[in-house]
Amino acid sequence: MKHLVVGGSGQVGSALIDALVRREQTVVGTYLSHPVVGQVPLDMRQSDAIRKIVQEIQPDVIWVPGALPDVDRCEVDTDLSEAVNVRGPIALGDLAASREIPLVYFSSDYVFDGENGPYRETDPTHPIQVYGQHKVKAEEALLQYENTLVIRPAWIYSQEPNPRNFVYRIASELQKGHTVKAADDQYNTPTPSTGLAVRAVDAWLGGYRGILHLVGPERLSRLELVARIAQILGYDHPNIEVVHVGDLALPAKRPLNGGLITNASQFAIDERLEDLDFRQILTGH
Ligand SMILES: NC(=O)c1ccc[n+]([C@@H]2O[C@H](COP(=O)([O-])OP(=O)(O)OC[C@H]3O[C@@H](n4cnc5c(N)ncnc54)[C@H](OP(=O)(O)O)[C@@H]3O)[C@@H](O)[C@H]2O)c1
Repeated sequence: MKHLVVGGSGQVGSALIDALVRREQTVVGTYLSHPVVGQVPLDMRQSDAIRKIVQEIQPDVIWVPGALPDVDRCEVDTDLSEAVNVRGPIALGDLAASREIPLVYFSSDYVFDGENGPYRETDPTHPIQVYGQHKVKAEEALLQYENTLVIRPAWIYSQEPNPRNFVYRIASELQKGHTVKAADDQYNTPTPSTGLAVRAVDAWLGGYRGILHLVGPERLSRLELVARIAQILGYDHPNIEVVHVGDLALPAKRPLNGGLITNASQFAIDERLEDLDFRQILTGH
């Protein structure tokens, strides 16, 4: 089968392509501003470009990990967020439906308000910032088509020495001797991109449709997470400053008592932070 991965240059997109190739699938990935050898350019804000690429590639499945996941940027540039996080995925969904092929869309735990986490697939959404509101809009439109799988991960990390990976960002700060601020009042379920991609492919191949929460096995505060990363990277006395999210004066509100849990336990991800090999991160500076 042939797969089109929109956002193949991203953290999740690149892991997805690896997972699909390992399952002997044919994959074409797309990038926007970070060219990847073998992938093709696509800006999903341009509906003509979307139609052209689908016409050329003739995919059997469309995957959409592509997004503007910078929550604060979405809050200050709502038009950009609407174009990338709402209209782009919906245009792809309409096209998939017209061709009677499935679409797998990557949403977020930010569809919830973080009053009472962790949340299950069946819990009602209540986003508290633009990014989450736009994810809900896209989800609702795409779920009108029965051949849609909506995957919700949370706090994604990877082994890549790339600033989009927060393990790398924390490693870089610690290595420079900088103090890392970490909130002790924000809880979530960190998710490895590798396990996420493998379970997403399992779910799609298994014919799962509708909403699926795919997250790592632990629920941690940001402070606990940063301390664990520092420990794994070998920092005995890391400079960590304990803060509350409110102290950070961020443009977008964060869900505090957040995180996800799944009703479909067969797809639970068991990979923990300690199971990943972060040597590449330490030597990639
Ligand atoms: N990161 C997290 O912690 C997290 C948590 C929960 C949910 N999610 C969701 O999971 C999905 C994947 O996130 P990620 O961490 O892999 O994000 P990422 O690393 O930032 O990747 C985003 C991808 O989208 C592409 N893209 C951006 N704007 C585009 C546009 N206008 N047209 C086409 N492609 C565009 C980017 O291309 P270039 O890089 O080439 O510009 C990149 O390939 C997203 O839907 C995100 O909202 C992420």
